[in-house]
Amino acid sequence: MTDEKQPDRQIYYPGLGGPGSQVIGEEEEQQLLDVVRSKVLVRDRFDAIRKHYKVRTFEDKFRAYMGSEHALAVCNATQGIVIALAALGVGPGDEVIVPAYTFIATAAAVVAARCIPILAEIDDSLNLDPEDVERKITERTKCVIPVHMKGAPCRMDELSDVCRRHGLYMVEDVAQACGASYRGKKAGTFGDVGVFSFDFWKVITTGSGGMLLTDNEEVYKRCVHYHDHGHEVYRENEDLGERPVIGLNFRMEELEGALGLAQLAKLDWLIRTMRANAARLWDGIKDIAVFTIRNIPDPEGDVGNGVTLIADTAEIAEGFYRGMQARGVEMEWLKESGWHNYANWKQLLNKRTVTPDGCPFTCPRYKGEVDYYAGMCPRTDDLLSRSVTVNYNNLVRITPEEIDTLIQWTHEVVEELT
Ligand SMILES: Cc1ncc(COP(=O)(O)O)c(C=O)c1O
Repeated sequence: MTDEKQPDRQIYYPGLGGPGSQVIGEEEEQQLLDVVRSKVLVRDRFDAIRKHYKVRTFEDKFRAYMGSEHALAVCNATQGIVIALAALGVGPGDEVIVPAYTFIATAAAVVAARCIPILAEIDDSLNLDPEDVERKITERTKCVIPVHMKGAPCRMDELSDVCRRHGLYMVEDVAQACGASYRGKKAGTFGDVGVFSFDFWKVITTGSGGMLLTDNEEVYKRCVHYHDHGHEVYRENEDLGERPVIGLNFRMEELEGALGLAQLAKLDWLIRTMRANAARLWDGIKDIAVFTIRNIPDPEGDVGNGVTLIADTAEIAEGFYRGMQARGVEMEWLKESGWHNYANWKQLLNKRTVTPDGCPFTCPRYKGEVDYYAGMCPRTDDLLSRSVTVNYNNLVRITPEEIDTLIQWTHEVVEELT
């Protein structure tokens, strides 16, 4: 990690992306220059002239860092989930359980894979509730997608147990939690496939990009084929012939791979820094009676990209959110977290599919009946209405003095409210 120039100090940093975007520097420039100067922008072929395999190296290093057998870089996590489901053979007629609090991409990817998303409640970890997952299982359920929201691991022991007992696949959505772990094992290595995002708002970023992890070689191969027109991953030429499946193109290419290499080298530093800042912030506000901190199933495995508080009432949460915003602090009231709250997913609630036939909801292979409406996950509604994240995405560049100011303002705003 180089000692880069610090940005001008302010507690609210408008316009910044996620943690990784805040440490883009010389390492990224150098990596990108390698690619531009070589003029080889694709991940495979041109072996005689190319001087680098950025995507391939990124996959190798990522796989080793996470402790997984196979890694496949892809164009983004949304498509990554589609690929994972397809590779596992989850498709028409199947139900896939997703949390009611996640970015809409998780549920949309299930629809794109021509499956039916079934919404389950979150618990006080703000992640998928294993008990509600169990309640939502039917004979049509094939897969569960736990989502590690805002850097904190899900209750993986319980979720893995539910999947094992019911013979269900698990695809982990690790888009928001790259580097998180649960009891010493990295998030993304519990499920049949783990899916990561490197978009601009994520823990590390390649602008747009994603990664799949799996320990299963067959699944890995199917992911590879589907993500690149049916070709093998390390292909060297354009040979025609048999292909195992009709694939598409969801590849990552060298410029993103180059960025990924530079960013991955900064991941541990980012996590250490954010965790230390989150701990200082929480330490200063933990005695405020009207708040509890979100339950983090393994605090040692938290990435630390935000401190999320659960207030006693929705009124306190909203008042606190508005009071801190008025002081210029970047905040998120989870009820108003846009596409992360299922109640706002109007296109899903109304089953507005891209083709007018309504597939997969009208698919004759689907034997169940599903209805979506705001209010269908009351516990999630309650938790989101009482949850606020302080300084979301901004625990990288913040100084100890700024954290102390945040602590002081938090106390002041709560006193005004109570
Ligand atoms: C939980 C979650 N899943 C999936 C995605 C989709 O990631 P991508 O932008 O790489 O498609 C996001 C992105 O915001 C996300 O937050």
